[in-house]
Amino acid sequence: MQRLIRALVLLLILGLGALWGLAWFGRQPGEELGDAFLRQIAALTGQEAPVPVSAGGVQLPQGVTLGGPFTLVDQDGKPFTQAGFGGQLAVAYFGYSFCPDVCPTELGNIAAAMELLSPQEAGRVTPAFFTIDPERDTPEQMKLYVSNFHPRMVGLTGTPEQVAEVARLFRVYYKKVNRPEMSEYLMDHSSYIYLIGREGRVRLLLRPNSAPEAIAAAVRGQLAAR
Ligand code: NI
Repeated sequence: MQRLIRALVLLLILGLGALWGLAWFGRQPGEELGDAFLRQIAALTGQEAPVPVSAGGVQLPQGVTLGGPFTLVDQDGKPFTQAGFGGQLAVAYFGYSFCPDVCPTELGNIAAAMELLSPQEAGRVTPAFFTIDPERDTPEQMKLYVSNFHPRMVGLTGTPEQVAEVARLFRVYYKKVNRPEMSEYLMDHSSYIYLIGREGRVRLLLRPNSAPEAIAAAVRGQLAAR
């Protein structure tokens, strides 16, 4: 019996070690090891044991906390902190308004998910878009952009330092990319959807390209859990 337990513990350690190893070697440029590890776990749960839609997305591994209090500026140029969500749930995405494809798709999915909720449910959730490109995403630009997606979507920007701090809190990877054939720079960035609860704490991550139905189900799950 003891031998069996020892073998199992060894297996577990080897398994975790392998995951860290995968995370180490599979890191994307500039990605932190912790983020790469999260990505490996997400990939694992996606491939081998799909998280039921009702459970909604990628649960954070135990002991991992993301998010927290932040200070930014909203699309009207007013200071905006986590308190701006009024203690309610926020469904958030980090990207930039000049993004050619991924960001509009993800924000479109979030907007579509809002439409799938009942008015009562939707009233308890704020859709939010955080920029990682403060240089071009001024409050005016953000206002124009978020209004394309949802009338209640909040657009958040700030100084480069504020944006960097929020990205650190939420473990968002971003990097400016210059392509010789393009006159404007692009931003490389991670692409999770965040469900944010009280105190700016992340309750749940949703994989990139989650369907509106899955986003709505995850929001409902979080609303029910409150
Ligand atoms: Ni993007």
